[in-house]
Amino acid sequence: MKKILVTGSTGQIGSELVPALRKKYGGDNVVAAGHKRVPQQAFIEQGPYVTLDVTSIESLEEVVTKYQIDTIFHLAALLSAVAEEKPQLAWVINMQGLSNVLEVSRKNKCAVFFPSSIGAFGPNTPRNNTPQDTVQRPNTMYGICKVSGELLCDYYFNRFGVDTRGIRFPGLISYKMLPGGGTTDYAVEIFYRAIQKRKYTSFLQEGTYLDMMYMPDAVRAAIELMEADPKRLKHRNSFNITAMSFAPEELAAKIKYYIPDFLINYQVDPVRQAIADSWPQHMDDGAAQEEWGWQHQYDLEEMTKDMIKHLSQKLAV
Ligand code: SER
Repeated sequence: MKKILVTGSTGQIGSELVPALRKKYGGDNVVAAGHKRVPQQAFIEQGPYVTLDVTSIESLEEVVTKYQIDTIFHLAALLSAVAEEKPQLAWVINMQGLSNVLEVSRKNKCAVFFPSSIGAFGPNTPRNNTPQDTVQRPNTMYGICKVSGELLCDYYFNRFGVDTRGIRFPGLISYKMLPGGGTTDYAVEIFYRAIQKRKYTSFLQEGTYLDMMYMPDAVRAAIELMEADPKRLKHRNSFNITAMSFAPEELAAKIKYYIPDFLINYQVDPVRQAIADSWPQHMDDGAAQEEWGWQHQYDLEEMTKDMIKHLSQKLAV
């Protein structure tokens, strides 16, 4: 990884992955690409920024050749709840975008990181200790795009030798940038409301367990996988990884420890509840541990402490 392109860089993961990559590989060597959202000023100042629509293969190829890119972290995509609202658009952005990235990578010999998700599983998947290799029959447009993406990335590796690698991310929790339109977003929103309003109405019901991860672990995972020795990788697209599994009431109880008058109540959104009910509660990430040494650092306790500390500073309470 010498010259890196990050698509979807203004999103929840990109906003933290780009600074981490720039710290490691040098600001000029990491090109951040975004589409509609305006990037933070610091972000533009620390290295190159380009406006890029990933559904245009010509624009993508232009950026890759201009900056002599050798690695693409392809993050541009619509999340699960938005994808249910706009399934046709989700297919175009999530699939045409990935197909363009893979094709340009084949021609320009780039490695590709593809973020898959717990959403790549479905209602017939074992929900606990979800194996690395198991039934994947998602019933959401987001999940269909993720499974297709995993298969397409493996195809490009096996057929054309493109160095594709991917991770099935759990719900990601962070204080720098809000996620947009996902099912696991409640686990981020809850912190904002707890600090600002002392109460939160959860759109997922009590007892809804989902895999989750704090952003510093997620960013480190993406970089570590791309740096892993390819000889050790038996899998490619995509690796289960997890750090914690909790239900809304358990997260609320942890927050209450720091904010004693915090209250949670529930008003279930049937669309997002159905999505959550079709996803794993706790994945087995043994393959990632074995093949590239994956280990999470933040559990529920550590994540909650860190989120409250940083978000309180950010919201200047
Ligand atoms: N966090 C994503 C979502 O909720 C899942 O990968 O859509």
